[in-house]
Amino acid sequence: MTAIALLPTVAALRAQVRLWRDAGQSVALVPTMGALHAGHISLVEQAKQRADRVVATIFVNPTQFAPTEDFSKYPRTLEADVAKLTEVGADAAFTPTAEDMYPEGFCTSITLRGPATAGLEDRFRPTHFQGVATVVAKLLLQALPDVAIFGQKDFQQLAVIRQLTADLDIPVEIVGAPTVRESDGLAMSSRNVYLTDEERAVAPMLNRCMTRAAQRIRDGEALEAALTPARNKIASVGFEIDYLEVRDAVTLASVEGRYRKGLRMLVAARLGRTRLIDNIEV
Ligand code: PAF
Repeated sequence: MTAIALLPTVAALRAQVRLWRDAGQSVALVPTMGALHAGHISLVEQAKQRADRVVATIFVNPTQFAPTEDFSKYPRTLEADVAKLTEVGADAAFTPTAEDMYPEGFCTSITLRGPATAGLEDRFRPTHFQGVATVVAKLLLQALPDVAIFGQKDFQQLAVIRQLTADLDIPVEIVGAPTVRESDGLAMSSRNVYLTDEERAVAPMLNRCMTRAAQRIRDGEALEAALTPARNKIASVGFEIDYLEVRDAVTLASVEGRYRKGLRMLVAARLGRTRLIDNIEV
């Protein structure tokens, strides 16, 4: 197994990418916050199919967490992450510090509309996408990859990043990779480690209820009529729902009526202290 290059600074990242570019090689970027699981590994596998070289970034970005959120207790497992990246065959891990990404005097951020203000995650995490957009723009401009891979699990984030790179003419192809699930349907997430055993047993109900509701919509039932029993069932097993909605899959705008092509069902719900999100095609 070839050891991956550890790139702790922007300068080291740029020097490594320059070497690959000089050798005529293409580069894929897989931005992560670490605590890598099979979902992240599948992003690296997709990246390997699309470029000669793959850089995974590991940075728990403080600016996308609100003061009330889990920034300080977010799982940090750098050694295990590097071992997993080595095993899957990534070429490098970019592991900047907060000081490297946000040096003293840093005062720029990106103002977003469109999918970032669709009234889903942004309703509950009003500063989140500004932090995501700023760090993703920085990561893309630091690495200047040919392609960057993001999970579809964070569906609104993916739409925000597509819009951001198009609007700012950042020359990169954005690829959305399918959500990887546990065998019982629970979407993989670094935050699943917060679930107690009892909560873990209940958690797959989220995806099960969505799958059933999506089937009813495809069978012709009106959107709201299919969503109401799903919301009731999810609440009855102990979730507090932030939203369960069907939206336009590209713009994330609200939709009404019945099934048409290009719909996405998105959910966010809290189970105890853990907030879970998921989404599926309708
Ligand atoms: O999806 C994530 O893990 C993060 O939001 C990202 C894209 C790495 C930015 O910090």
